[in-house]
Amino acid sequence: MNEIQVENLKSLSETDLFDLCEATDAAILDGGGFGFVSPPERSWLERYWQGVLLVPERSLFVARRDGAICGSVQMVAPPRNNEAQKSIVAVQHLFVAPWARGVGVGRLLMEAVEAEARVRRFKVINLDVRETQTQAIAMYETLGYQRWGLHPKYAHVRGRWVPGIYFFKDVPSAGKRRDG
Ligand SMILES: CC(C)(COP(=O)(O)OP(=O)(O)OC[C@H]1O[C@@H](n2cnc3c(N)ncnc32)[C@H](O)[C@@H]1OP(=O)(O)O)[C@@H](O)C(=O)NCCC(=O)NCCS
Repeated sequence: MNEIQVENLKSLSETDLFDLCEATDAAILDGGGFGFVSPPERSWLERYWQGVLLVPERSLFVARRDGAICGSVQMVAPPRNNEAQKSIVAVQHLFVAPWARGVGVGRLLMEAVEAEARVRRFKVINLDVRETQTQAIAMYETLGYQRWGLHPKYAHVRGRWVPGIYFFKDVPSAGKRRDG
C-alpha cells in the first residue's frame, strides 16, 4: 500500500487546492458524494474550498497519498448559540477519489474525525447519506454507526427522489477504534 496520511488542514497551497479540486471532480463524475450531481466550474470549486477554511465551525480533513490530496471529510460543530446540542457534531461531504479507494483512505479520514471529536469532547457524531451510496453505508456500518432513520425525499437527482439514511455514533473513547 502507498503511504497515506490524514491531516486537519488549516491552509491550502496552490498545489493542494489543485489536487483537492481534481479529487472532487473525479468523485463527482464517478457518481456520488459531495452533494453534486455534475462538477461545478473550477473557479467556483476553488472558492468553495477556500471558503470552507474560513468557517469557524468547520474542520477540513484531507487524506494524502504520496503527498497528493486524494480525499476529504468535514466535521461541523454546532453554532455557539445551540447550547442544547453542544455535544453533538456532524460529519459531512466525505469522499475519496476513485483512484484511491479500497485501501483504507475513507476509514482513516473517519478515524481522524472521531479522534478530533474526542479531543474536543463531543459525545455524538451524526451523519446522513444517500441510500444509493452503498460503499459509504457499508463503511459507516463497519465503523459502528447506527442507522436510525430514513428520509424518503432526501435528495433530488436527475429528476427523481432519492431516499437518505441517517446514522449516529457515540464518540469512541481513546483506544476503541472500530465499534465504539
Ligand atoms: C465511501 C468511500 C468514502 C469509502 O472510501 P474508501 O477509501 O474506498 O474506503 P476504505 O478503503 O477505507 O474502506 C472502508 C470500509 O468501506 C467499506 N467499503 C469500501 N469499499 C467498498 C466496496 N467496494 N464495497 C463494499 N464496501 C466497501 C468497507 O466496509 C470497508 O471496510 P473494510 O476495509 O473493513 O472492509 C468512497 O467509496 C467514496 O468516496 N464514495 C463516494 C462518495 C460517498 O459516497 N461519500 C459518502 C457521502 S456521505
